Amino acid sequence: MAPKYIRLISQVKNEVARMGRGGRKLALLVAVLLVFVVVTYKLQLCAPSDRGPVMVPKQTYVVGSDSRVYSYDRYMPLIFIGGVPRSGTTLMRAMLDAHPDVRCGQETRVIPRILQMRQHWMKSKKETLRLEEAGVDKEVLNSAIASFCLEVIARHGEPAPRLCNKDPLTLKSADYLSELFPQAKFIFMVRDGRATVHSIISRQVTITGFDLTSYRQCLQRWNNAIATMYDQCQLVGSDRCMMVYYEQLVLHPAHWMREILEFLDVPWNESVLHHEDHINKPGGVLLSKVERSSDQVIKPVNVEALTKWVGQMPQDVVADMAELAPMLAKLGYDPNANPPNYGSPDAFVADNTRRIRDQSSLWEKKAHNLQLPLAPVVDEMDTTATTTA
Ligand code: A3P
Repeated sequence: MAPKYIRLISQVKNEVARMGRGGRKLALLVAVLLVFVVVTYKLQLCAPSDRGPVMVPKQTYVVGSDSRVYSYDRYMPLIFIGGVPRSGTTLMRAMLDAHPDVRCGQETRVIPRILQMRQHWMKSKKETLRLEEAGVDKEVLNSAIASFCLEVIARHGEPAPRLCNKDPLTLKSADYLSELFPQAKFIFMVRDGRATVHSIISRQVTITGFDLTSYRQCLQRWNNAIATMYDQCQLVGSDRCMMVYYEQLVLHPAHWMREILEFLDVPWNESVLHHEDHINKPGGVLLSKVERSSDQVIKPVNVEALTKWVGQMPQDVVADMAELAPMLAKLGYDPNANPPNYGSPDAFVADNTRRIRDQSSLWEKKAHNLQLPLAPVVDEMDTTATTTA
């Protein structure tokens, strides 16, 4: 041992010998407390949590075009936007993308697929056993899937203080995602199922399990999908999962965006009400040429799509609506009202809608200039992995 430590120890020994009994007790107590604090601190760094293991955050760094270095890890407050496709999920992400602190970006498509693959593995007892025997236990899988999702979310676009993902069907795995990313929050887009189904059928959006020739079957599928998402959102809890009604968002965007940003702990910024000014601009709203909502989302918030579905469904389907889609009533939509009274738009939205109607050729030209959509349009959800509605 180094002479300076030997000297220190003998000094401490002398001090202790000189102390009275009370002093020695106090010194012992302080020493025990010190050891306790150090041990607890060390354990916190490496102890497994009650829901998942990996406690030491794996930091990854990426340099933005502004030359700032951004770090990302599983413990960052990610934002997940989801819902049944054609429920205004792209509009929601575009409004958030317009915020200078948030970046969502285009659908990644691979995130819902990996989540669904894991679900398949977990469903099979035989497969779970095989994986465990191979050392690929829950801990290993969670860690790997979290890294995969995080890497895709962080690197498919520009870095930003708040990263966000919009792959509509990820909401089906909200509970699992909330475990992988303990600080993440979820925006669950809800829309009148009749409008969603009309959008799917009229725009021929292929979703596995949805029969585009049958309103009846599609409404049942919508009901199953939204019921699963609703349950997931409930499981995650209202402090981390917020239901946002498409109709209310487009009727009263200022009110709802304030609520949403507050829920997400993102400071208020007016740009979220003018997402159309940020289309395909750096740090703004980047659009995919092959997503089915791109040519609609270039427009300012409007109410054109609210009641397009009315009068478009077979009479027998309209008559059976309450039984076909019980989630309509559960979510507060009147299944027998055609259309229900969704409310009146704010003056700013009514004005947007009027301008869009009066200048329809202008928007077509804009979509054309942005090459939206490419023909033939690629199906948005053309994989079994993304949907099991
Ligand atoms: P319709 O197909 O009924 O027109 P998603 O992005 O989840 O697939 O949702 C698509 C729906 O969002 C479309 O419904 C589309 O009109 C609507 N939407 C997109 N941009 C919008 C905007 N700027 N204002 C209002 N609704 C918009």
